[in-house]
Amino acid sequence: MINDLWYKNAVIYCLSVETFMDANGDGVGDFQGLLRRLDYLHGLGVTAIWLMPFQPSPGKDDGYDVADYYGVDPRFGTLGDFVEFTHGAKQRGIRVLIDLVVNHTSDQHPWFQDARKSPDSPYRDWYVWSKKKPTNANEGMVFPGVQKTTWTRDEAAGEYYFHRFYEFQPDLNTANPRVQAEILKIMGFWIQLGVSGFRMDALPFVIGTKGADVKKPVEQYDMLRTFREFLQWRQGDSVILAEANVLPETDMDYFGHDGDRMQMMFNFQVNQHLFYALAAADTGPLVEAMEATKPRPATAQWGLFLRNHDELDLGRLKPQQREKVFAEFGPDKSMQLYDRGIRRRLAPMLDGDKRRLELAYSLMFTLPGTPVLRYGDELGMGDDLNLPERNCARTPMQWSTEPHGGFTKSSKPVSPVISGGAYGFERVNAAEQRRDPESMLNWTERVIRMRKEMPEIGWGDFTVLDTGDPAVLALRYDWRNNSVVVIHNLDGKPHEVTFGLGLDDTAPALINVLSDDHSQPNDKGEHCLLLDAYAYRWYRVGGLDYLLKRSEA
Ligand code: NOJ
Repeated sequence: MINDLWYKNAVIYCLSVETFMDANGDGVGDFQGLLRRLDYLHGLGVTAIWLMPFQPSPGKDDGYDVADYYGVDPRFGTLGDFVEFTHGAKQRGIRVLIDLVVNHTSDQHPWFQDARKSPDSPYRDWYVWSKKKPTNANEGMVFPGVQKTTWTRDEAAGEYYFHRFYEFQPDLNTANPRVQAEILKIMGFWIQLGVSGFRMDALPFVIGTKGADVKKPVEQYDMLRTFREFLQWRQGDSVILAEANVLPETDMDYFGHDGDRMQMMFNFQVNQHLFYALAAADTGPLVEAMEATKPRPATAQWGLFLRNHDELDLGRLKPQQREKVFAEFGPDKSMQLYDRGIRRRLAPMLDGDKRRLELAYSLMFTLPGTPVLRYGDELGMGDDLNLPERNCARTPMQWSTEPHGGFTKSSKPVSPVISGGAYGFERVNAAEQRRDPESMLNWTERVIRMRKEMPEIGWGDFTVLDTGDPAVLALRYDWRNNSVVVIHNLDGKPHEVTFGLGLDDTAPALINVLSDDHSQPNDKGEHCLLLDAYAYRWYRVGGLDYLLKRSEA
C-alpha cells in the first residue's frame, strides 16, 4: 500500500524541455539534453518529473496550445527520444508526469482547421460555436489586460468560437462523447510510452459546461471518475494531478467523496496564504487555509508549491492581504500581472536572502502534501522582467559559467539566459553550487533526502501546536505510531516560544534531524525554543527509548 501510493511521499520536479538542456546545439532544449541531465535530477533526489507540454505546437502559449496530441515537437526531438527519456527516468526510479492540455487545442490543430471549414465537418461539434456574439463575450477572461474577449469570430466558419484562454486556443467541446473518448485515447497513448500520469491543465474549465447560453458553468464531476477509472484500468498506479484553483468547499468534489476522482490537486488556497504569511509574518490565515483544505480521502494528496511557471495568483486573498503581498514581494507594476498576481521568481521576491529562501522552501517541504519544485529553484534562479508576461520566469536553466550558462552551444538560445547581476548565470549556476557545501543546491539536496525520510508528512495527519505567537508555525504530524514536529519562525526577528506537543502522558525530547540542536522538555513537559530570524527546525519526536515504548503501547 505504502509503495503503491507513490505520490503520497514523492518530490516532484517540474521542468520545460525547451529551456532545460540543449544537446544538439540549435538553441532549443531537447529530450537528449534532458536525458543527459537525469543523473543531476537523480542526485538531487527528486522522485518524479512533471514535464510541461512538449507536443507539436505553434508555441504561442509556451506549448499550452497543442497542435497534435500524439507527437513530440520536432524542436525537442522524436517520440523515440521521448521513450529513451522515460526509460532513463525509470531506470533511476524517477516517475514522469506530463501535462495534459485538453480544455482547448491550438487554432492550428487539424481538428479546428477542419471544423471551421464547414458545419458538416465531423469536427465541427468538437468546438463550441455561436452564430451571434454572446452577450457575455467580454466576461470570464483568464488573462485580463491581455485577452480582450472569450468569443472570437472565425471568418471561415462564419461563427463565433469560445475560448476561455487566448483567442488562438479554441475550447474543445468536452461534453461531446467523441471528445471525451479522444481524451482517454490520448491518456492511453502516453501511458503506453512510460508516463505515470498527468498534470491536468485547467480542470474546472474542462469539466464546466460551455456554450453561448451558459451564464455560470456547472462542473460535470462524473467526467473525473471516468478519467480515473480509465487510467487505473490501463495502469493501476497512474495518477492525475489536477490544476484546479477552486474554493475549499469544492475540494471533495474533485477528490471524490469516495476517493474515486482525482488523486492529487495543487493546493492554491495554501499557496496564496503561505505567501501572505511570508509577507506579513502572520500565520493565522495560513492555518485557516490548511484547516479548510484538510478534509480529503485517505488516498488523495495535495501538491504543495511555491512558484510555478505562471504568475503567483493572489485572487483568493482579502484585498488588504493581497496589498501586503504586493507591497512586500512585487511593489512595481512591472512585477505584477493580470490584475491579480506577481510574475517574479521566488529568489528575487525574497531579495535573494538565503535565510528567507530556506525558510520558504522548508515550509514547502513540510506543509501537508507532496512538494512540487520548479527547475532552477534549487539554485535560487532569478527572473528577467524585460520578457513579456510570464516568460520572465521561464528562462533557461543555468548549468555553469560557460557561455549561455552551459544551456546551449548556440549563440541564439530560445530565450535569453539571465546574465549579469545577482542572478546571472555567472553567479548562479549548478556547477559551482555543486562544489559549495553551503550552496542552495546542496541545501535542497539535503532537505529532499530528509523529507523523503519523513513519510509522516506525506501520509500523516497534522495538528497545529499552540505557540501563542502568530509569527511561529508549529506542526505535529502523526503516522503509524511515529510523530514529527516542524517549526518555522516567519519573522525577520528572533522569537522565543514555549509549546506542548499535545501528546497524551509522556513528554518526549525533540530530536533535530537537520542539526545537533535537540530539545529537552521542561518539567511541565513543554519545549522552550529560541528561534533566530527565519529559523526552521525539523524534529523527530522522542529518542529510540520513547519510540520503542510507544510502539509497545
Ligand atoms: C494553465 C497553465 O498553467 C498556463 O500556463 C496556460 O497558459 C493555461 N493553463 C492555458 O493552458
